[in-house]
Amino acid sequence: MRMIDLIEKKQHNKELTKQEIDWMIKGYTEESIPEYQMSAIAMAIYFNGMTKDERSNLTMAIVASGEQIDLSEIAGIKVDKHSTGGVGDTTTLILAPLVASVGVPVAKMSGRGLGHTGGTIDKLEAIPGFHVELSKEEFIKSVNRNKVAVVGQSGNLTPADKKLYALRDVTGTVESIPLIASSIMSKKIASGADAIVLDVKTGAGAFMKNVGQAKELAEAMVEIGNSVGRQTMAVISDMSQPLGNAIGNGLEVEEAIETLKGNGPKDLTELCLVLGSQMAYLGGVGDSLEEARTKLEENLQNGKALEVFKVFVGSQGGDTSVVERTDEVLPKAANKVEVQADHSGVISTIVADQIGLAAMRLGAGRETKDSKIDLAAGVYLHKKVGDTVKAGDVLATLYSNKPIDHNVKETIKINMHIEEKAEPLTLIHEIIQK
Ligand code: URA
Ligand code: CA
Repeated sequence: MRMIDLIEKKQHNKELTKQEIDWMIKGYTEESIPEYQMSAIAMAIYFNGMTKDERSNLTMAIVASGEQIDLSEIAGIKVDKHSTGGVGDTTTLILAPLVASVGVPVAKMSGRGLGHTGGTIDKLEAIPGFHVELSKEEFIKSVNRNKVAVVGQSGNLTPADKKLYALRDVTGTVESIPLIASSIMSKKIASGADAIVLDVKTGAGAFMKNVGQAKELAEAMVEIGNSVGRQTMAVISDMSQPLGNAIGNGLEVEEAIETLKGNGPKDLTELCLVLGSQMAYLGGVGDSLEEARTKLEENLQNGKALEVFKVFVGSQGGDTSVVERTDEVLPKAANKVEVQADHSGVISTIVADQIGLAAMRLGAGRETKDSKIDLAAGVYLHKKVGDTVKAGDVLATLYSNKPIDHNVKETIKINMHIEEKAEPLTLIHEIIQK
């Protein structure tokens, strides 16, 4: 086979065979196919797209490029969840114990935050003592014992994706639905999931800025998952304003605990119940999404989900008293600044990515992969879209261990718009299932 023939085939919008895709990804991973040829075909894919079969074949070729986690020693259907990345998105901290509490094993590998979006692993590290590195044996044992464990990504999963993503980043080929869909799905499949729930975000804080694009991506991923034997569902959820009230690692742990106690913000609680219903249903709980949801609601109310959270934290070395003595146990910021409304009205927009970037500048996030983060830093929103405010009301509190720059305060203020009235936001735009 010659790469030039594959490039020309794709350039003329012809379908690549499974053998051709396997050969290409293998050659690219082993570096017998150079970056310039791969970038040419990525651009042809960017313009011409890929058929359903090509997308599934590309996904599985990327999976085959590296290690695959074998979770077969864990009893039950292992359901994983993926979010395309948001601001203040604490759902995994809540969903992992909540879904485990109805008996579905959650063996989760999570990442760290970058730029305006946060990462689950950083949040968990805000709990003193919590460690995110478990050996494969410990990981499997924990899930079998407690139904839940969350670890950082390790091992050589999907090396072809790492190379291809870096190449796309510098060749203008990131924003291609088949390339994004195969990139995300390959990582979930290589991590050993039997079933996958996807939270595709849309709005200012999201990768997909509008619902149409998000839907196209979600449909492509659901189709890939189901075509390769992994039951997959997706939710298209709003990320025009940050999720919940807290943005920042320690602050989000506190918010997750409140939510597990049944006192969480409305939007965060609802999204957890919607995603959790899909995870539980795919994991075999209930005969419908509604039945699965009822079981989850019960366990939020009766304290079972919170109890599982405590066991989960303890089993990974974390201080379990964080549940009762949240304020004392979590890291505290040396500096605190309030942002006040300068006129009365209704909050009409809270620009998610700008708030996320402000939190990053306070120390809650990473500017580059190697930046160090401040686990106590972040933004707490006292008001959300639709809330009425009077001049002088506190809109947000900023936390940091660094002196808080006046510019950050201004950024928050100009990105929380106060008008005479506000359009209500839709949290869940669509549910995609096959
Ligand atoms: N996230 C991924 O993991 N891959 C992409 O291609 C885009 C976003
Ligand atoms: Ca939040």
